[in-house]
Amino acid sequence: MPGITLGDTVPNLEVATTHGKFKLHDYFADSWTVLFSHPGDFTPVCTTELGAMAKYAHEFDKRGVKLLGLSCDDVQSHKEWIKDIEAFAHGSKVKYPIIADPNKEIIPQLNMIDPIENGPSRALHIVGPDSKIKLSFLYPSTTGRNMDEVLRALDSLLMASKHNNKIATPVNWKPDEPVVISPAVSDEEAKKMFPQGFKTADLPSKKGYLRHTEAAIIPRSHTWLLPIYFVVSLGCYGLLMVGIGLMQFPTCPQEAVLLQKDIAEAKDFFKHKGVDVGSN
Ligand code: BEZ
Repeated sequence: MPGITLGDTVPNLEVATTHGKFKLHDYFADSWTVLFSHPGDFTPVCTTELGAMAKYAHEFDKRGVKLLGLSCDDVQSHKEWIKDIEAFAHGSKVKYPIIADPNKEIIPQLNMIDPIENGPSRALHIVGPDSKIKLSFLYPSTTGRNMDEVLRALDSLLMASKHNNKIATPVNWKPDEPVVISPAVSDEEAKKMFPQGFKTADLPSKKGYLRHTEAAIIPRSHTWLLPIYFVVSLGCYGLLMVGIGLMQFPTCPQEAVLLQKDIAEAKDFFKHKGVDVGSN
């Protein structure tokens, strides 16, 4: 695949999008981005793919990851096409920007070309907050991508990055499954790094290189909500307690008068029966 690839910095192009003009590095700053290209507007496979991205948007949001589409037509055409995409996606909204590339000048610079067709492809780069490419897919225009696989690959990158690439994810890995420890990590280091322990596969070579450990992924963008959840829960608990407390007392003056009347009548009744009920 000629052109920019893993580890390369995406050129800081100024792009026209459905959300206005911006420089790519400004968009990439401070988060991961999934940048995905499409051959053209009002084409069947692309409509299904962009609709799926809209449906999956909450999954990317949960991980604090931005989406950025590109299609080889102009902004006005994109805006018209979005109406079809949203209708096809049963109302899921296309909230992410789509880059315009009507003259196919941007796709070669982003290495989003199909070398067989010498034309647009279904390329997808996962770009880190440092504007460097961390993963690339290159599909021909005849093959739609699998959004579950995009998400799975993204989770793998986030997991490895969270552990400074000292872990890797094995075949068909999913986020709640064990990961493997990098061969660059010794057993001694692994014991310190993974207090939960690890399991070494007993293989004929006895080289002990296949070690599994448990590691859970944390949806990053939602951790800041924890203090809010705590304060809201505390508030609800307080309100509940106040409510229960109020239920023990008369809630209006009329009720209080009725209660006092009941007590006085009860006292009279017991007095008649010769029972001493005291003065209070
Ligand atoms: C499509 O999106 O359906 C498509 C685009 C270009 C070539 C073939 C299919």
